[in-house]
Amino acid sequence: MKKFLDFITDEMKQAFAAGGYDESYAKVTLSNRPDLCEYQCNGAMAAAKVYKKKPIDIANSVVEKLQDSRCFEEVNAVMPGFINLKISKDFLAEYMNGMKNSEKLGMETVSDPKTVIVDYGGANVAKPLHVGHLRAAVIGEAIKRMGRFMGHHVIGDVHLGDWGLQMGLIIEELKDRKPELPYFDESFSGEYPKEAPFTISELEEIYPAASSKSKVDEAFRERAQEATFKLQSGYAPYRAIWQHIMNVSLKDLKKNYSNLNVEFDLWKGESDAQPYIPGMIQNLIDQGLAYESQGALVVDIAEETDTKELPPCIVRKSDGAALYATSDLATIVEREQDFKPDHYIYVVDKRQELHFTQVFRVAKKAGIVAPDRRMDFVGFGTMNGKDGKPFKTREGGVMRLEHLIADISDAAFRRIMENRTIEEEEAKETAKIVGLAALKYGDLSNQATKDYVFDIDRFTSFEGNTGPYILYTIARINSILKKFEQTCEAANETSILPPATEPEKTLTLALSRFSEVMETSYEELAPHKICAYIYELSNALNHFYHETKIIAEEDRKKQAGYIELVTLTRSVLLTCIDLLGFEAPERM
Ligand code: ARG
Repeated sequence: MKKFLDFITDEMKQAFAAGGYDESYAKVTLSNRPDLCEYQCNGAMAAAKVYKKKPIDIANSVVEKLQDSRCFEEVNAVMPGFINLKISKDFLAEYMNGMKNSEKLGMETVSDPKTVIVDYGGANVAKPLHVGHLRAAVIGEAIKRMGRFMGHHVIGDVHLGDWGLQMGLIIEELKDRKPELPYFDESFSGEYPKEAPFTISELEEIYPAASSKSKVDEAFRERAQEATFKLQSGYAPYRAIWQHIMNVSLKDLKKNYSNLNVEFDLWKGESDAQPYIPGMIQNLIDQGLAYESQGALVVDIAEETDTKELPPCIVRKSDGAALYATSDLATIVEREQDFKPDHYIYVVDKRQELHFTQVFRVAKKAGIVAPDRRMDFVGFGTMNGKDGKPFKTREGGVMRLEHLIADISDAAFRRIMENRTIEEEEAKETAKIVGLAALKYGDLSNQATKDYVFDIDRFTSFEGNTGPYILYTIARINSILKKFEQTCEAANETSILPPATEPEKTLTLALSRFSEVMETSYEELAPHKICAYIYELSNALNHFYHETKIIAEEDRKKQAGYIELVTLTRSVLLTCIDLLGFEAPERM
């Protein structure tokens, strides 16, 4: 189905052309004076300069050509040359019925689906998931789902930090605690145990203990570095411990992500990129791109058009060790080999922007990816506490994600119980769904790059621009439909009728923008635009509900039209929240 905006833009193009003006002036936008009109076109102003005419004369002649248009109910030229548009009610109804009968609510699947890699999550193995990882997971998951809805082939990769110093720290701490383990016996030649020498709760305690120790104990830190190096060079006993750490942690990580409704197609990590490093480095050297600087191997990335000076990308340290950039470049080599992606999207803390600029430029300079390949860095800001500083626990420590989720579910539970429309048992289950929605919507409704304040009271409120408000609107529709089923007679003919009142028209106008909003949000990788849209749509639905007798309506045909309209609204809302990565309870 054609996008709503395309329908009206095409009408406008024809009118400009018929008046003897270039079609390119026929750009139509949402009105910024909703009191006067619904859409507007300002093209006459730009055309005036080229055609050396008064803007109002051009506007008038275009308006004349639009008199019989089936899209508009009113078209006006106003000084100095604006064209104000009001949409025809019949046309809106036709479009609504098209949406309701189409497979994807009127959305066209893209004609040239792309292979897209979304690199998000980025958890570090053996370290607990904390709120810093929340945004990566939440935003990345939404972008992945949005891309799929457009029809692209989108692959989500968690890209674990599984190759760093934390591994050496755990190995050395384990050695101190259990020196008798075979991994630490150099003469051991048997097979290593299948069972891990620690449980997840032990592991969760080992890492922070080792990490604090390394901050005060210089010798311990050096040993950990040594162990990390040995692991990275393939020392079998340490590889065996590493495998245990991976097995135990991954199980836990998967559970945590799944509680967030976040699913990855690939559970790859930095370790998977290691085999690609030597070839990648050699390639950089052979092409004359990498050169030695103070013992390290670097690649220049500065470009003439840069507004600030960008340092070269270090691809190998002077001691021969690989760095973060090395591993990301090697990962691109691997991804090219496995998937040949058309588009790369990285959802990572915005403080890593320079790193990704360097990596993208080296990848393109070296021909690892084609120069015109789309590579996007979606950098996100920090989640702050009410004091404006990065969010902490009440004790000032790093908040674990599972505790955060528990807190917000509790808050949602209290809100639901205030309303007392459901039993406590059901309220508990519902609170989990509502809490997650509150958390995710609270995050996603902000532009990703911005910092935001985690405000549990505001996020869980049933009023205002919040997740629970959207869910509340869906629950309201559910209850209307249920009442209708129980008390009313179904009509034979069920189609959406031309809107007869202002609130009804506002609702249909909002619904008609669905495809457009989906497309723009994905194009700009901006889930917050979907949030803004469903907030507006929910407001429109609630206003319509307050102004319209649905269940008491006696005209069956009219009533059936209302029922179809709210059902369509529910489908749009449910589709959108699914793209944002949360669900709605039946009632709340
Ligand atoms: N593990 C990293 C961190 O915690 C994030 C990884 C992001 N992805 C990437 N390809 N570098 O900072």
